[in-house]
Amino acid sequence: MEKTSQISGYYKLPREERLRRLAEFAGLGPEEMEALVSGLSVEQAEKMVENVVATFKLPLGMAVNFLVNGKEYIVPMATEETSVVAAASNAAKMCRATGGFKATTTEPIMIGQIQLLTKDAKKAKKAVEDNREKIIALANTKDQKLVSLGGGARDVEARIVKAAGGDMLIIHLLVDVRDAMGANAVNTMCEAVSPLIEEATRGKTRLKIISNLADRRLARSEVRVSKEELGGAEVVDAIIDAYEFAAADPYRAVTHNKGAMNGITAVTIATGNDSRAVEAGAHAYACRDGRYMPLTRWEKDADGNLAGEIEMPLALGIVGGATMNPTARMSLKILRVKSARELSEVAASVGLAQNLAALRALSTEGIQRGHMGLHAKNIAMMAGAKGADIERVAGIMVKEKNVNVNRAKELLEAGK
Ligand code: MEV
Repeated sequence: MEKTSQISGYYKLPREERLRRLAEFAGLGPEEMEALVSGLSVEQAEKMVENVVATFKLPLGMAVNFLVNGKEYIVPMATEETSVVAAASNAAKMCRATGGFKATTTEPIMIGQIQLLTKDAKKAKKAVEDNREKIIALANTKDQKLVSLGGGARDVEARIVKAAGGDMLIIHLLVDVRDAMGANAVNTMCEAVSPLIEEATRGKTRLKIISNLADRRLARSEVRVSKEELGGAEVVDAIIDAYEFAAADPYRAVTHNKGAMNGITAVTIATGNDSRAVEAGAHAYACRDGRYMPLTRWEKDADGNLAGEIEMPLALGIVGGATMNPTARMSLKILRVKSARELSEVAASVGLAQNLAALRALSTEGIQRGHMGLHAKNIAMMAGAKGADIERVAGIMVKEKNVNVNRAKELLEAGK
């Protein structure tokens, strides 16, 4: 029987016990646990970027309770923000009773762009179209490994784009990148086919680079949550009002999407993926119809329960690039994902859960109460509290709704 990701009171366990339960769930051996805890060494970091002097650490929390397409997931999340991991876990728990998340992805097709300067863009477009097969074949000679895994260049498209200095021909090379994020494969292919395109069109190619608007590589997830789990019919209505606010007002939609990205970016970083690429793609996709819109949608179903979905580009890989980081490798092992598509299905579900948690909190009690617990502990420690004093001082400050260092110092003194 599959192990469950529903570990009740996971947050209350001591860290060593959390790690032990996690290792049991994911089948981590002692060396893997060690790799997870120690993370990237300075020596490894030196092979990744230039001028290294140290590594930068972030908290890595585990979101529990995720059920996606009937499979159990504990989700590693790297984030500096209080409440994000707890909120994702809580929302995932509410979604379990109705079967969890149902997620899908399109084929992992990335777009490489080639900018062609030409006097006659129409003629050049025809020349590119006439050479479609040749371009694809040449691109595929550049990454036989990818081709052997079932990926590779699939198609060529050309568009005439009106730019300030005149028409340009923009050629898109569509590449199935399988389990990679894909930037390396796509950029190499674009550079390799450019001489052929120049010869065929008698034009001059300039930029050859992947597009981060990965709208051929979409992830979708949907969920149904019962009104009882959410706290009643009024909560369902309040969440829908909150969604409608975002759908009507870009100032709100950006924050709404930021909340979903709290989850998606945390998974992206934990798995060693490129969070800037994912963020850029998400926000551009949110704007695809000319107006910035929420990435999620929420409505009431015929039984008065809440139904929601998310759709967005997700260029996540499970091989290559920074996924070689030991923490990232362990995160992928904990996730037990077999493909990049599966990883994107989980990440999209985390985004939907995160958005649900934020809308529920905001439309009912507000988010500050949830945020205050850990914040108050930090303030207590800043004031010098140690051991049991941290909980005591933080607890009083939260109750008083007065969380600041001076008050923490007073309470510490009073407790001596
Ligand atoms: C905070 O990081 C995220 C929220 O602002 C998201 C939202 O407003 O929906 C709480």
